[in-house]
Amino acid sequence: MPKKIGVLTGGGDTSALNATLKGIALKAEELGFELVGFMEGWRGVLKGGHYFTLTPDLIDENRGGTLLKSSRTNLIKDNKLDEAVDNLKKLGISGLIPIGGDDTLTVGTALSEQFTTTFVTKTIDNDVGGNPPEGDAVDYSKMVNYFCPGFPSSAQSVINAVRDLRTTTYSHDRVIVVEAMGRDAGWLTLSAAYGQADLIAVPEVRYQPERLAEAIRKKHAEQGNVIVVVSEGIRNDAGELMINSEAELDAFGHTKPGGCSEIIVESMKKLLPEISSSAFRALILGYLQRCGSPIPLDRDISMRAGALAVQALSDGMFNGVATITRTPTGIEPTLLPLEQVLMRDETGHVIRRSLDLRFYDAERYQMSPAGAGYFRPLFGNLPRPDLSLDDRLIEIGEIG
Ligand code: F6P
Repeated sequence: MPKKIGVLTGGGDTSALNATLKGIALKAEELGFELVGFMEGWRGVLKGGHYFTLTPDLIDENRGGTLLKSSRTNLIKDNKLDEAVDNLKKLGISGLIPIGGDDTLTVGTALSEQFTTTFVTKTIDNDVGGNPPEGDAVDYSKMVNYFCPGFPSSAQSVINAVRDLRTTTYSHDRVIVVEAMGRDAGWLTLSAAYGQADLIAVPEVRYQPERLAEAIRKKHAEQGNVIVVVSEGIRNDAGELMINSEAELDAFGHTKPGGCSEIIVESMKKLLPEISSSAFRALILGYLQRCGSPIPLDRDISMRAGALAVQALSDGMFNGVATITRTPTGIEPTLLPLEQVLMRDETGHVIRRSLDLRFYDAERYQMSPAGAGYFRPLFGNLPRPDLSLDDRLIEIGEIG
């Protein structure tokens, strides 16, 4: 039975990472394990890496970010797996809990062939796990990892931002293109429906400028202002990311997206000459959707997922992932085998979970009823569209 266990956080941060760490620390204390926290993701287990004893009192589960800091270190590409295993053994660590998204889990999978490991997921992109089986009736309870810890808090930030923007959009008759994160998956962008976004464009559906322009034209004619929420990961006709600066690659070889909202605004100005070009704005939400405190639902389930990972190590269930399952009464942490959570194609590459297209109505650029069914346990019923103030004002006349 492991007596000294380690933990690290890799990849982009989320609001709920400290909550997962707190759940891990509390459970470790309860079971009598010493807990070692490695700083800056996988970098922390390499030569020169820093580590310290992690106790529950050090961790504030209501604070966003990660006490352990993070990095996108790729032990596979850097050929450092053996060094990491040696260091973990030298320190007397008998089990490791990496908390991360697909990249961290990919490195963790390779490490787990030589070292006792159990995982907890996190990512605001919500792209680790599996969708409900195909078919007309969506069975949400069959989703692998119903959501990734951190996603609900980011979705709430996107919802708040879009809901708040409605007032300025109305006051100044703006057409605002808001850019949400999500490198490959449209989950976060779709959540904007709860903030009453007029039109939503996700990376799973190829961007078609003329179609979007037509949808904006129609909305603008109806209400005089429009909020479009697009995912940073949407792709042009050639299937390429729409990036507004020099393409940059991260340690895992992914091109960093960013700036598509600015590109879209420029093309909409050209396609919609009837709308004053001064009405258009692009707004990149950036880190404001990844920072700050977790929402209670996210915090609580993340703590429970962390505790489950420690319990799994204690019970000798290795190479598992603490995931989240939707049950008839709510959401529960569930331990699943790594292969079931981290899907791979025939060449061994990890397949990220895309937005289930049953959740999106591509015709209307909106969330579908099945999508509202997915988000209901997180945010309740989809709000009904506001009656625009214009409709309630009674016009006295027009000054001639
Ligand atoms: O992987 C999560 C994510 O937030 C993506 O949505 C985003 O593209 C990326 O990380 C940005 O990461 P950073 O700016 O921290 O490198």
